[in-house]
Amino acid sequence: MVQRLTITRPDDWHLHLRDGPALAHVVAHSARQFGRAIVMPNLNPPVTRVAEAAAYRQRIQQGLHLAEQRGDLGKDAAGFEPLMTLYLTDNTPADEIRRAVESGFVYAVKLYPAGATTNSDAGVTDLLGRCRAVLEVMQELGMPLLVHGEVTDPDTDLFDREALFIDRVMLPLRRAFPALKVVFEHITTREGAHYVRDADGPVAATITAHHLLYNRNALFTGGLQPHWYCLPVLKRESHREALVEAATSGNPRFFLGTDSAPHARGAKEQACGCAGCYTALHAMALYAQAFDRAGKLEALEAFASWHGPDFYGLPRNTDTITLERAEMTVPNELPFGDDTVVPLAAGEALDWRVVG
Ligand code: NCD
Ligand code: ZN
Repeated sequence: MVQRLTITRPDDWHLHLRDGPALAHVVAHSARQFGRAIVMPNLNPPVTRVAEAAAYRQRIQQGLHLAEQRGDLGKDAAGFEPLMTLYLTDNTPADEIRRAVESGFVYAVKLYPAGATTNSDAGVTDLLGRCRAVLEVMQELGMPLLVHGEVTDPDTDLFDREALFIDRVMLPLRRAFPALKVVFEHITTREGAHYVRDADGPVAATITAHHLLYNRNALFTGGLQPHWYCLPVLKRESHREALVEAATSGNPRFFLGTDSAPHARGAKEQACGCAGCYTALHAMALYAQAFDRAGKLEALEAFASWHGPDFYGLPRNTDTITLERAEMTVPNELPFGDDTVVPLAAGEALDWRVVG
């Protein structure tokens, strides 16, 4: 049985870092494991302009600095690089995409269908109706579109929203812009995995650790479990199996994106709790657990460390991290600014931990 695993330092291609005092707490967890992260722009208000992305990037760097002063960063973690994104709206000007490319620090544009998830009210109402000029420039300049792939029509069944998105949005989008780089973010279904596997052109997908490890039973085990609630919501077991198959297949279209999405404890544990699972603390241990259970530990490095930079056209990291098979108990809660956040699988034992 493999006891230690040294791999190229991984990157997180889908991460929520939040803002304010909580930022320094959560960015430290990511920086201990990952070289880079694609930082989601769904702040309140959202990051829609390059100037706002520049200011947010600076706040992230200040957060890293603060974490370092507090002794929260391990060695090498200070080199963590946030890769910024813009939040697409019905009114994003095409010129903003040119400015984003010129900036050298904006790496992608995020599509949230209006109303799909946390802080998505400013999202797009009609992608091909409202955003054609922007998509044209993105296609021309090679700027990836990151897609939250769920329809938002309230009459559709929550569990069908990803599959319906493929027919209603993805297929028409990719017919209209066949050379546009598209990342289908945090896929959760067999339909999503098979679409990405079989589609023509530059399409990829991120997969979270929690969608590889859990099915929707986790939401209801022994009672209602708010810390397992995220969007897109966990699906049934056959979908989880399809995601494991995709992630461990060696297909370069699938890569790591935690979708670590922290919310203060009280915002989750209430009558109408927020969506989002906090996994940045133990992300690589969770992924190692999922690949190990599938008997595919040898496929972890390509998924976590190679396929993402290859798709984005960036160099792979040159340093390494080491994971060790050793029991780690997930803490019950963690500091989150003046509040606390409950990590996914709090109080449970994991089989892996990062040791260097
Ligand atoms: C995310 C958040 O809280 O920002 N929540 C989530 O459940 N994943 C938003 C998102 O990525 O959908
Ligand atoms: Zn997300």
